[in-house]
Amino acid sequence: MTYFTLRIRAEAPEDFASVEQLGAEAFGPGRFARAAFRLREGVAHEAGLSFVALMKNGSGVEELVGSVRLTRILIGCRPALVLGPLVVARSRKNLGIGRELMNRALHAAREQGHRLVILVGDQPYYARFGFRPVPAGRITLPGPADPARILYLELEPGALVDHAGAARKHA
Ligand SMILES: CC(C)(COP(=O)(O)OP(=O)(O)OC[C@H]1O[C@@H](n2cnc3c(N)ncnc32)[C@H](O)[C@@H]1OP(=O)(O)O)[C@@H](O)C(=O)NCCC(=O)NCCS
Repeated sequence: MTYFTLRIRAEAPEDFASVEQLGAEAFGPGRFARAAFRLREGVAHEAGLSFVALMKNGSGVEELVGSVRLTRILIGCRPALVLGPLVVARSRKNLGIGRELMNRALHAAREQGHRLVILVGDQPYYARFGFRPVPAGRITLPGPADPARILYLELEPGALVDHAGAARKHA
């Protein structure tokens, strides 16, 4: 069995270039056209709710191998969070890094009293964290997205009831 040490900590300003690099490798230039990107464009992600994963490479130097960000949005006139991007370095997939990042970010969001998180992503992956498809037409995004991939998680039971309409940037 291979053992490795994973460290999760809040994203810091000096991580920016490495996080961008991970995103570019995973999603390519098309990431700028994604509906979820438009929700975040020009808006700072939440510093206390965005995390990076670090692992030592063969030379003992810590490398940034994963990232998750949460950003404030509005749905209708109600505050919520959008999760993403969640990305793990290709060479480090299936080690539980995505799971650790998700658990850390969602725990922090609950602790801070946030009520609802949405994302655009693969339901088969995000179901393990409790995400479910948003009922058809309930929440619209500022760009094209497959409705089956628009997912939500209630951090407070029943929170979705208060949220309907257009998701947009938090000013
Ligand atoms: C999706 C992603 C973040 C998962 O990170 P990870 O650290 O490899 O995930 P974990 O180790 O926590 O979980 C691995 C499990 O998730 C499953 N999984 C990974 N991606 C999946 C997907 N898109 N759909 C369904 N299951 C998926 C794996 O098969 C594995 O299943 P198992 O536990 O039954 O063996 C990573 O693959 C990634 O960065 N992908 C490219 C970017 C992306 O698609 N991000 C998500 C959309 S924003």
